[in-house]
Amino acid sequence: MTAHITLAGRMSQLGTESAFEVLARAQALAAQGKSIINLGIGQPDFQTPPHVVEAGRKALADGHHGYTPANGIPQLREAVAADIRKYRGVEVNPDNVLIVPGGKVTMFFAILMFGELGAEIMYPDPGFPIYASAINFSGAKPVPIPLLEDKGFSFAAEDVLSRITPRTRLIIVNSPANPTGGVVPKEELDKLVQGLERHPHVAIMSDEIYARMTYDNQPHASLLPYESIRDRLILLDGASKTYAMTGWRLGWSVWPGSLIEQATRLCINDHSCVNAATQWAGVAALTGPQDSVDVMMRAFDERRKAILQELNGIPGFRCQRPAGAFYAFPNIAGTGKSSRELQDLMLSEAGVATVSGTSFGAYGEGFIRFSYANSVDNIREAMRRIRKLLAQ
Ligand SMILES: Cc1ncc(COP(=O)(O)O)c(C=O)c1O
Repeated sequence: MTAHITLAGRMSQLGTESAFEVLARAQALAAQGKSIINLGIGQPDFQTPPHVVEAGRKALADGHHGYTPANGIPQLREAVAADIRKYRGVEVNPDNVLIVPGGKVTMFFAILMFGELGAEIMYPDPGFPIYASAINFSGAKPVPIPLLEDKGFSFAAEDVLSRITPRTRLIIVNSPANPTGGVVPKEELDKLVQGLERHPHVAIMSDEIYARMTYDNQPHASLLPYESIRDRLILLDGASKTYAMTGWRLGWSVWPGSLIEQATRLCINDHSCVNAATQWAGVAALTGPQDSVDVMMRAFDERRKAILQELNGIPGFRCQRPAGAFYAFPNIAGTGKSSRELQDLMLSEAGVATVSGTSFGAYGEGFIRFSYANSVDNIREAMRRIRKLLAQ
C-alpha cells in the first residue's frame, strides 16, 4: 500500500541554506573532472589547531564517553566565561552559559522560544538564511531589517527601532555579518540600545560567531556589555569559525537568568548534551595558545585585500571593503544579470562556486557572496575566469 502520511503544516515553512546546495553541485562538477574553485563555502579552509585535536583524542582515550550535564561540562562553561571576560570585558556567571552543538542551535532555540503565530521577529536581510527559515517555521512573522550597501551593510538604529511593534518579540543582530562582511559600528549599537530601553518587551539575540574576525585593528563591538538590556539579551558564539571547528559542532551562548532554564530544557529535549570529547577540545581551544587564530586572520586579511582589488576590477562589479568575517559581497547589478543567473553561470561556465545574494534574503538581489576561505592564487585565478566569462 502507498503511504498516506500527513506532515505538520509548519514543515512547508522550513527554508534551507543554499551554500550547502552550491557545495553539492560544485562537488558533482569536480567529480566529473571539472576544475572548480570554491568561493561558496562558509567555513575556514584551515585545520583545527593540533593541540585542540589532541585534547579531543585524549578525552576519548581517557574515557569521556558518556552524557555530560545538558548545559555543558563546568570546565567549558568556565572557559567560555573567561573568554568573554577577556574579549568582551564582561563578567558572566558560568551558570548562564549554555554549551550547544553549533551556533545554529542557539538561534533555533531563541527563535522557537519567542516565535509563534501573531508574534514578529526582526532579522537582518541580507542575512544568514536560517534566521528567516526558523522564524517562518516558528509561526512568527519575519520582519526584515534591510542592510544597505551605502551603510557598509550596517543599519541606522532609528530605522530598526521604527520597525518595532507591540508584537515584536525578538530582534536578531549579526555583526560581523554573513553574507556581507559588514560590521555594525559601536555608535549605532549605542543608539540601538538607547532606543531599546523604550521597548522593554523586545528580546535581542546577538549573533557574534565572527567576533574574533575583524580587520584593520577594529575591536569587535559586542552587545553584551550593555547593562540596560542584559536581562533580555542572548549572546550567540561558538568555535566553528574562530578555531576552524565547523565539523566538531560546538557552540555556546549566554542567556539571561530568566531564560537559561528554559534554554537548558530545550537541550534536554533536543540533543541531551554536546559530544563529550568535543567539549574537552573546546576547553583546549579557549584556554590554550591563540596563535592559530592570529595566523588564520593574517591569511584572511591578505586574501581580503586581494579579492577586494580583484572584484573592483571586474566590469559591472562594485565591492565595499569588508570589515569582518571572510566574505565579500559585491554589487553585480552592472553586469545586467540577476544574482542567481550569475551564480549559475560562474559555476557552470567558469568553475567558480559562489552564492547568490538572494539566498540571503530579498535585499540580496544584485549581489553575490564570495567567501575568501581559499588561497590568494585560487582567488586570482577565479577572478581571471570571471572576467573572461563576462567578456564573452
Ligand atoms: C552568522 C552565522 N551564525 C551562525 C552560524 C552557524 O554556525 P555553526 O556552524 O556553528 O552552527 C553561521 C555559519 O555559517 C553564520 O554564518
